[in-house]
Amino acid sequence: MPDHVIDFSSPLKFAYWVPNVSGGLVVSTIEQRTNWEFDYNKELARIAENSGFEYALTQTRYAASYGADKQHEATSFSLALLGATERLKVIAAVHPGMWHPGVLAKFIITADHLSQGRAAVNIVSGWLKDEFVNFGLDWLDHDERYVRTGEFIDVLRGLWTEQGYSQRGKYYTINDFTLNPAPVSVGSRPHPEIFFGGNSTAAQAVAGRAADWYFSNGRDLEGFKDNIAGVLASARTQRAALAPPRFGLNGFVISRETEKEAQETLREIIAKAHRPAVEGFAAAVKEAGQSTKDGKGMWEDSSFEDLVQYNDGFRSKLIGTPEQIAERIIEYKKIGVNLFLTGYLHFQEELAAFGREVLPIVRELEAELARKNGTELNTELLPTATLAKASR
Ligand SMILES: Cc1cc2nc3c(=O)[nH]c(=O)nc-3n(C[C@H](O)[C@H](O)[C@H](O)COP(=O)(O)O)c2cc1C
Repeated sequence: MPDHVIDFSSPLKFAYWVPNVSGGLVVSTIEQRTNWEFDYNKELARIAENSGFEYALTQTRYAASYGADKQHEATSFSLALLGATERLKVIAAVHPGMWHPGVLAKFIITADHLSQGRAAVNIVSGWLKDEFVNFGLDWLDHDERYVRTGEFIDVLRGLWTEQGYSQRGKYYTINDFTLNPAPVSVGSRPHPEIFFGGNSTAAQAVAGRAADWYFSNGRDLEGFKDNIAGVLASARTQRAALAPPRFGLNGFVISRETEKEAQETLREIIAKAHRPAVEGFAAAVKEAGQSTKDGKGMWEDSSFEDLVQYNDGFRSKLIGTPEQIAERIIEYKKIGVNLFLTGYLHFQEELAAFGREVLPIVRELEAELARKNGTELNTELLPTATLAKASR
């Protein structure tokens, strides 16, 4: 694989966390105008596709944790959101170990046909041990989970691209299998995109070898540079004949008229943190980064304050005025980020405001950055709004 080339001509892509679990994205008693149920989410998805967002990402959660007492299942919820929208791509989170990859491959092909090629998956290896143990499933050691995840991704891609696909692995065996129909053929996309979430060394190695997209929890610039380097190191030596991996970063957005207001909101979120829930979460996530041999990985050094947003979203610092946030986003583009996964306190209002106030500045700055690097921003790649259909 050639060295990582930052593509200044491609516009950044934007995604949002689907709030399909209750309690909002921060574990705090601060007011959060959000809702985990379908009607709210349907409206949110339509707002998103009309506000410049290309993707929505559901969460997979089976048991209560960090105050998320109720959860809607990710694949069925994603399918319903695809049915309620026209252009949004919906990424369903799935755990290897909970699904057989052949069954999932088939499910996603059907979702892809029902949505004219808008289905995608996020393969997550899991950290919530109780979900597996109480379902009577094996709870594998940290790095072993990634062995299984790697095989799982290989099966998906194999069944989505080949006829008579076979694979012999430690966890999955597929014998001469053909899935008909194949996924929808759209543009240059060979099959539904395979996202992958994880921060550890083992996670980076698997993502570099096999995933289309590497997703990370919130990180500062230096931290995310390390993740990118780790994924690319693996891609250089292990990657099959695939397009280079692309990079997505989580960030919790607090956009306000003044920086002072934004920082005050952050302080209030943390001051009103639900301490027992955050502490319970901190104990559970020891099964992730902290359980690895080198101690590297998700939540490895997250402080109490960081964990109030349970995907370390404050660490990306998308907090301030729209201008400040747009500038920060551009700093990440310069190190190789291709996509931002965003979360909000008051989801519908703030996501719409992000599209209205932050994205136009991002696009201007991206155009400037492209010119400085001897190219043009390819605006044909921008998602287009479907305003006429918004009020359906
Ligand atoms: C963007 C993103 C989304 C994730 N979504 C889920 C999820 O829905 N359910 C889940 O159990 N874990 C989810 N995870 C966590 C991963 O399963 C994994 O346990 C975590 O990244 C720890 O990985 P590490 O120990 O390799 O650093 C997600 C991770 C990322 C980065």
